[in-house]
Amino acid sequence: MEERKGFRSYFGFLMAAVGSAVGLGNIWGFPFKMGKGGGFAFLLIYLVLAAVCGAVVMLGELALGRKTGQNAVTAYRAVSSRFGWVGALAPVTAMLILSFYSALGGYCIRYLVLNVGCLFGTEWGANGLSGATVFAEATADGGMAVVYGMIFMALTAVIVALGVRGGIERFCSVGMPLLMAMLAVIILRACTLPGAAAGLRFMFVPDFTPLREDFMGVLRTAGGQMFFSLSLAAGVMITYGSYTEKKQHLARSAVTIVLCDTAVGLLAGMAVLPAAFALGAPESAMQGPALLFITLQDVFSGMGQMGFVFGIIFYGLVILAALASSVSMLEVPVAYWTDRQRQKGDKKRRRWPAVLCLTVLSGALCAITCADGLGGNGVWVPFQRFFAGAEKIPAFCDCWLDFLDMLSEGLLMPLGALLTCVMIGWVIKPETIRAEVEQEDNRFKTYRFYRICVRYIAPAVIALILWGQIRAFFG
Ligand code: PFF
Repeated sequence: MEERKGFRSYFGFLMAAVGSAVGLGNIWGFPFKMGKGGGFAFLLIYLVLAAVCGAVVMLGELALGRKTGQNAVTAYRAVSSRFGWVGALAPVTAMLILSFYSALGGYCIRYLVLNVGCLFGTEWGANGLSGATVFAEATADGGMAVVYGMIFMALTAVIVALGVRGGIERFCSVGMPLLMAMLAVIILRACTLPGAAAGLRFMFVPDFTPLREDFMGVLRTAGGQMFFSLSLAAGVMITYGSYTEKKQHLARSAVTIVLCDTAVGLLAGMAVLPAAFALGAPESAMQGPALLFITLQDVFSGMGQMGFVFGIIFYGLVILAALASSVSMLEVPVAYWTDRQRQKGDKKRRRWPAVLCLTVLSGALCAITCADGLGGNGVWVPFQRFFAGAEKIPAFCDCWLDFLDMLSEGLLMPLGALLTCVMIGWVIKPETIRAEVEQEDNRFKTYRFYRICVRYIAPAVIALILWGQIRAFFG
């Protein structure tokens, strides 16, 4: 059988994995959740969760991928017949996330174009309108949103079609360092705005009240954020793990990815929250789409001509971060498809038919999310009718974005992570992971800690998070 090509260098692998982890989740989710959840107190909980669950699941996935040298779907089957079906969840999760993620990526491209328009005074600029009005117009125009969503999907597809080395690795190796440089520029500008200190205080000052009042709520928020932000249980780390060499130290890589992702979350907070506070934005406008597409655009528009230059840099960096994440999602099913071709001995193995079919599939859901205007346009949502007679309609029925998010981030991710831990801890046993880490004279010094986490702590904590998510959705 023909050889399966992986990443060319360790740097390339690390940039691709960090690129997958760093994305919209860090920029619009982490800073606000940290501020609301008790500042440093939340960070502490997040880091403990990341150490006992996040890094543990990540290492398990990387090792599973490298040990089997296969894609996420067949990797589970290769190590356990009983848990083989868990692998099938991965591409479903990845494709569901890809569809709404691309809708949001499309809006970022639209805002980049908008700022270019503002800079040159053309009619496709904001034309002096407020961020809220621009956003309302952008979401109401479902057709235009679909076009931008499709542009984002097409960019993702082209990078993935170019291959693991020529597309994903090359894009992330250039894109990630560039993203850091752009982030530094934005942080400098944001932190020197008058009133910026309030944003830093909001995010960093420790406050244990949220933990005392609603510990389960904080745990659920931090847990959900962690799975999404670290790209866990979507098959990404298994797929990327299968592209690494035996000499790489997987445990060290897992910790590095977690630390880089958290660091970018903190840095993103220093870029966006001081700006939001300087503007005096209400708390409701400091997270999610409102933060990115209303509050920050108002900040840029209020700075004069230079503001639009910062706007271009900012939306440029968000697009880079989002693309590095979206390519990792598409690569999960593409790897499955191309592995199957290889197994069948297909001589003319080509990636583009796989990329094309999967892009069309995910693109259809993306188009619906765009047409729904991120929830404003009332495009039919599945299950809404199901709850028609009920006293209270669950929140996820509100719009397509919430529905897809609930299914993937809320349910499939914690479920997949839980099953992965149970499989590693009790079926194939943690020794299998140890053997994979200790290839080529590498030492797994924290193995005892890992063993306890994967067998007891992580499954218990993830089950608690999953339970919290289910109750929040239907409560
Ligand atoms: N980690 C990405 C973010 O924080 O934006 C999102 C993500 C990427 C989720 C890849 C899932 C995935 F498979």
